[in-house]
Amino acid sequence: MEKQIIMQMKHITKRFPGVLALDDVNFEAYAGEILALCGENGAGKSTLMKILSGSYPRSAYEGKILIEGKECRFTDTEKSERAGIAMIYQEISMHLDETVAENIFMGRWKKKKGIIDWKWMNQEAQEYIAMVGLRARPQELLRNLSTSQQQLVAIARALTKNPRILVLDEPTSPLTIQESDKLFSILHRLKKKGIACILITHKLGEVFANADRVVVMRDGRTISASRMEETSEDKIVSEMVGRKMESYYPKETAPIKEVVMEVKNVTVAHPYAANKNIVEDVSFSLRKGEILGIGGLVGAGRSELVDAVFGKIRKNSGELFVDGRKVTIKSPADAIRAGIALVTEDRKTDGIVGGLSIRHNIALASLRELSGYGIMKGKKEKAKVEELFSRMGIKAPGTEVLLQQLSGGNQQKVVLCKWLMRKPKILILDEPTRGIDVGAKAEIYKIMVSLAKEGIAIIMISSELPELISMSDRVLVLAEGKLAGELAREECTQEKIMMYATNIGNQ
Ligand SMILES: Nc1ncnc2c1ncn2[C@@H]1O[C@H](COP(=O)(O)OP(=O)(O)OP(=O)(O)O)[C@@H](O)[C@H]1O
Ligand SMILES: [Mg+2]
Repeated sequence: MEKQIIMQMKHITKRFPGVLALDDVNFEAYAGEILALCGENGAGKSTLMKILSGSYPRSAYEGKILIEGKECRFTDTEKSERAGIAMIYQEISMHLDETVAENIFMGRWKKKKGIIDWKWMNQEAQEYIAMVGLRARPQELLRNLSTSQQQLVAIARALTKNPRILVLDEPTSPLTIQESDKLFSILHRLKKKGIACILITHKLGEVFANADRVVVMRDGRTISASRMEETSEDKIVSEMVGRKMESYYPKETAPIKEVVMEVKNVTVAHPYAANKNIVEDVSFSLRKGEILGIGGLVGAGRSELVDAVFGKIRKNSGELFVDGRKVTIKSPADAIRAGIALVTEDRKTDGIVGGLSIRHNIALASLRELSGYGIMKGKKEKAKVEELFSRMGIKAPGTEVLLQQLSGGNQQKVVLCKWLMRKPKILILDEPTRGIDVGAKAEIYKIMVSLAKEGIAIIMISSELPELISMSDRVLVLAEGKLAGELAREECTQEKIMMYATNIGNQ
């Protein structure tokens, strides 16, 4: 059966000050398909979809949108919702101090005699909660949910609108594999009902497993639109980056030298569950020039372990030695003083400030180092920032641009620059390439290797097994807060990591 075109965007051009974000883009979606939208960070994917959702009003761009052949002029998101378009944004915008049910029905509460019908709302919310496989009560405050659970709430909210076109902007970044699977089973169901699902993602595995078609964008233009069977991973990657990618993982072994840090018997109490530890009695050492990978399932305590080392969360017990000397770390400031840097997976909660320039954000953590006698050495700072900015290939007209004007992945690169600027002895990276495109990923790997060669010790948490295996000299696997296994580079395979991660290795 020939599929019907449900939506067309024609000759869309969008300018921001100094940036041509979209350059005469044509884009269409069919009813009942899963359409993947791929492209490097800053290619224009989110911008294109924000135009479709009415986030950028009709007057802010050039071009036409046709829904089922009829031209639509959206002045705001409400109008596009009425036309059947729902969008889940890359930067989740949720109300943390409201309940799950309130977030699901945000602003669309049913009232009885002028009073909000809470009972109806909670009951109705329950249905959507079940639909997306969220394990939380409708009355739960959103603040108490993990990032991935909050993402599921956003998806539930979109579904309540009964969309004909559902746009998801990197929905699986914060999700576990199980949660992603669940999400895709929902998308396949929606597809059968004739809904067009447009999925922005950097995970090509997901694209090949689920999409019917893929559109590749580069520098604000559409480069290709193909059915999955007509294309390949290599082809998509080279269309995205505009060149052939040779080696994806540039791992070279740097000379591994003396122990720089020893972590002994770290235990961290579980934040919610009483009498339970999220990290239990974990010890390890780290050498100069080494890239130490930490693997494990989500919830295994990996982030908590490094957060405790960095002084971001409280340890119940445990000791830390840097260069053979015992250090007391009670706050990130203590850790920074000891030469430790932490790049977190969640750029929204820490690390960076949207309203400040790229330069300020990069310089934030290193003000002390750059200032002599309390005076900022402006020139030195600027030169260093410029160097990192170009080395990382951040897409922006310059370092004075406000951070909030960058695409999601480019913001992540700024976070990384910020910590590299500090030249740490020990660099901890928590999911460093989440939301980052293939080209920039390879760039980050290269930087990791060159830092290791300079003698910096690196700890990398990663849920992407190929990344973990290819980049690490040694991998520690955590399961339920405990150290379940350690694998040397030579013996490291996906199967062995998963075996330890699911605790089968210990039985
Ligand atoms: N509000 C804004 N003000 C100024 N420039 C912006 C704004 N939003 C986006 N841009 C610029 O437009 C271009 C496209 O950004 P967009 O967010 O669409 O990229 P993307 O393809 O979604 O990237 P990512 O994969 O990193 O999310 C980028 O150069 C970005 O810096
Ligand atoms: Mg984006």
